[in-house]
Amino acid sequence: MKKFLSLSAASLVVAASLFSACSSPVSPQDRLTVNDARIDAVIAQMTLEEKVEMLHSKTNMSSAGVPRLGIADMHYADGPFGIREEGVPNGFQSAGWQLDSATYFPTGSALAATWSEDLAYQYGKGMGIEARLRGKDVILGPAVNIQRLPVGGRTYEYLSEDPILSAALACFYTEGLQSQGTAVCIKHFAVNNQETNRGSVDAQVDERTLREIYLKPFERAVREGGAMSVMPAYNKVNGAYCSENEHLLNEILRGEWGFKGYTVSDWGGTHSTMGAMLHGLNVQMTGSNYLGQPVIDSVKTGALTEELVNEKVRQILRVRFAVEAVPDDVANTKMTSQPECRDIALRVAEKSIVLLKNEGGLLPLSAGVKKIAVIGQNAVLKTQSGGMGAGVKALYEVTPLEGIRKRAGEAVEVSYAPGYKNFRGRWGAGAADPLAAAASDEPADPALVAEAVALAREADLVLFFGGTNKSIETEGSDRAGIDLPVGQNEVVKALAAANPRLVTVLISGGPTDLRELEPLSPAIVQGWWNGTEGGTALAEVLFGDIAPSGKLPFTFPARLEDSPAFAMGNFPNKIAGQDLFMMLYRDDLQKMSPEERRAQIAAMPQPESVYSEGSLVGYRWYDTKEVKPMYAFGHGLSYVDFDYGSMKASAGKKGIKVSFPLTNSGRMAADEVVQLYVRRPESRVEWPYKELKAFARVSLQPGETRTVRLEIPADDLRYWNVDKNAWDLEHGRLELLLGAASDDIRQKAEVRF
Ligand code: BGC
Repeated sequence: MKKFLSLSAASLVVAASLFSACSSPVSPQDRLTVNDARIDAVIAQMTLEEKVEMLHSKTNMSSAGVPRLGIADMHYADGPFGIREEGVPNGFQSAGWQLDSATYFPTGSALAATWSEDLAYQYGKGMGIEARLRGKDVILGPAVNIQRLPVGGRTYEYLSEDPILSAALACFYTEGLQSQGTAVCIKHFAVNNQETNRGSVDAQVDERTLREIYLKPFERAVREGGAMSVMPAYNKVNGAYCSENEHLLNEILRGEWGFKGYTVSDWGGTHSTMGAMLHGLNVQMTGSNYLGQPVIDSVKTGALTEELVNEKVRQILRVRFAVEAVPDDVANTKMTSQPECRDIALRVAEKSIVLLKNEGGLLPLSAGVKKIAVIGQNAVLKTQSGGMGAGVKALYEVTPLEGIRKRAGEAVEVSYAPGYKNFRGRWGAGAADPLAAAASDEPADPALVAEAVALAREADLVLFFGGTNKSIETEGSDRAGIDLPVGQNEVVKALAAANPRLVTVLISGGPTDLRELEPLSPAIVQGWWNGTEGGTALAEVLFGDIAPSGKLPFTFPARLEDSPAFAMGNFPNKIAGQDLFMMLYRDDLQKMSPEERRAQIAAMPQPESVYSEGSLVGYRWYDTKEVKPMYAFGHGLSYVDFDYGSMKASAGKKGIKVSFPLTNSGRMAADEVVQLYVRRPESRVEWPYKELKAFARVSLQPGETRTVRLEIPADDLRYWNVDKNAWDLEHGRLELLLGAASDDIRQKAEVRF
């Protein structure tokens, strides 16, 4: 069922979901049931104790099989952008292995900036190849929650603020990973859009928004991508914890989407025995206090049936049978990181870099530039680890400075100064490090600024590396704001005064406030946390070996207050909370008795997060409310111009078809990401101003023209009708807006659908 879009060979480019690999006619979920008869024969031989042993963790990263019957344990690893370093059996501390250095792939928002289903597939495949080398059965990823808040601590792990883009990439990532014989565990299901109070917050979201925005990526990865396992999130959705949420797990996931695999709670995210057993959880990770002995007791007293236990075991075994265990003497005999996977990481990084602004022709760096001053610690800091769960121990990581120096060679002198102290928080260097800031909002250090300015004065061009780091954007907490940290604006002011030929490269996973920096920097690049070859890819773009082709997967608001949840007063929620994961689960940090744990949970704040902005997430909000962002969703410049020829559009029962000629009118090969939005000029139902419905990445040689074809499946034009409690179509006049970004529409057409 795997089918690549071979863009270079194709004369016609077909995009969107209709013909994608992720739209197999046979439900991949149904394929999981092929072994049910064998599985039932196994279950018939198992004792109740053996069955229940499978419903909770065995170690921090495994759950039990049935050794007596030759059924292997399930081995897990994080996800989502590299196979995580091996930890000790009962914690996350390093096991000290030598062969577990993995490929560090660009993080989620970087992958999403490629807008490439093909690269998402390859990325997943790379993860799958390395998962097998490590003997892993289930990878905890991809992480596909919608980026609702600009400050979200896990924005960098997640893909996009848009459900269609997220869903496509989630689906292809899933397929790619599972093609190698390992299961994904798609996470965090669902509506885990904030880290603040994530362990107790109740996300209150209306059914239409839930379906159209927050569940879409999961739905496609499950239904079309065939995701074999799903991780219920820490939070509650509309009153019930995700790990015991009847509506999410039993009604929607299993009932409507036909999910046949198993669910694994987020680590420490199981909350009760009856709730979890009755409402859709299979495996408690970690611990056995809910899905261990209490299940046995409940069956014995008749509170739970053994048939329910059998059902849970059957769902786990379907995945166990679909994923062949890697024998112990084969696993971990080779270095995890493989050259072909590092090559995939490089290709993703190359296509992810977003040129936000390019005035005055500073980029690509011209042959006349002989002396470059690289300023800013983000040019030298590695980004593979930190951020809690999602770090990777990479085999190596090419930093931006290393990439630039290597590409510059002898002909160009590259000097470097740190420019600012970096806040490395809990994960980084201690206070003894003279380059460590005590707080993320610490002002600029005059001595470091003076040193940077001296280099800038001497240089032909300044490359300023700003942005955040993985202590600032991290799992477990949201950012306090989106301001550039550690006095970076002050540094930029001083640099611009010393040398106006200033290019800024932002190294971050999420958006930052660029109001001060933007007028001072004629060229700005979003460089992401771009994996093991990130510095190589960045240098290729800066020096013009390749044209930048990434497009923003989320909006850069001008001001944080402009963004939907902030404008509506829905965030931040004022109750100070503690992170459930840190406080309640980490036995290595907190020694607690079960009673103490229960008391802590009861004492935790139980805040609500009200999603009253509805479906107006990201650009849907800015468009509808006519709020101008700093950089719009889908924005990204190239070194060439693309001409969009006139669009032909037709509508039929199955959906909408669009075609148009696209020409690269520049002097180098380049990719364009074309985007098709739909607006409904007249409608009874309320819609955002416009919505992305299809996209394609198109590679064009200089001067080349191709016909691009886009298709919008009818299903993607549906809305959730709350009166009917079902998907529905609103027929009528549709305006098709075709462009290079959500704020750069080049062609319009109308159809009746
Ligand atoms: C995170 C998950 C992760 C798990 C195991 C949790 O804290 O939310 O994304 O997979 O830890 O590391």
